[in-house]
Amino acid sequence: MTTIPTLFTPAAHDALASAYPALPCGLSHGLARHPLFTRAALEALAASLPVSHVEHSIGDVPVNQDPSATQVAPMTAPEVVRSIDTNRCWMVMKKVEHVPAYADLLETLLASLAHLVGPRTGPIIRPEAFVFLSAPNSVTPFHMDPEHNILLQIEGRKTMNVYPAGSTELVPQEAHEAFHRGAHRNLVHRPAFEAQARPFALQPGDAVYVPVKAPHWVQNGPEVSISFSVTWRSRLSDGEARLHLVNHQLRKLGLQPALPGQSPLADQAKIRAHRGFKAVTHTVKRALGRQPDRTAY
Ligand SMILES: [Fe+2]
Repeated sequence: MTTIPTLFTPAAHDALASAYPALPCGLSHGLARHPLFTRAALEALAASLPVSHVEHSIGDVPVNQDPSATQVAPMTAPEVVRSIDTNRCWMVMKKVEHVPAYADLLETLLASLAHLVGPRTGPIIRPEAFVFLSAPNSVTPFHMDPEHNILLQIEGRKTMNVYPAGSTELVPQEAHEAFHRGAHRNLVHRPAFEAQARPFALQPGDAVYVPVKAPHWVQNGPEVSISFSVTWRSRLSDGEARLHLVNHQLRKLGLQPALPGQSPLADQAKIRAHRGFKAVTHTVKRALGRQPDRTAY
């Protein structure tokens, strides 16, 4: 087990207890200068992960970046890490729990939060960890993610601009439904949205909790930024995803489905129906010798 000097501070536990699961909040942690996040350690991590677990692109892009305009630097993942001071790249190493030392860190961090999370959204499921490495001044475009996320700033500075989850002005229902069917995570950003942004200026030792599907974009500071992100799914995130998938099917039938949250009874009926349907298709696929879905829904 990796030795960890401090996880989240007592003040961070209080802040998360007040905000979780619906609201973003600033937190503090003791992982700055942790040996798993030195440049040498990250270069070794980049070399050890499957290619499918690493994504990188040129990072001096607009907030409103069209995913089809993304440019990828012709470098291997370890080369991106080695030259991050000058290569203008943004990089994410996904599912780093593939490497046991990072798996230990993820497990320990989430175990310290289980007493806060469990009573509100049920057991932590499908935990995953990500490392973000960004060249000076790079931008992560406006997007949303499907899981609960705590991003811990390890080195350098960045500002996370977090917007409310569930606003149909920011993200139309059709975009939610497309997202759960595999559409790119990037979203359309308009200047009028800015009034709804809540900026979290992060330096080493700071962290931010980002609720499920809360849109956000990131402006990195004038030096290289290294961040560690711990994520998890829950009964809440699982149900939210199922509602959008069911609503997509209803919309295809020409109906105008109720938005998630408008009718708790209808929401529960849709979630139960989707669970039942997926359980049946899972059983049929196994009986036919086909690979069932690996997601929770
Ligand atoms: Fe994100």
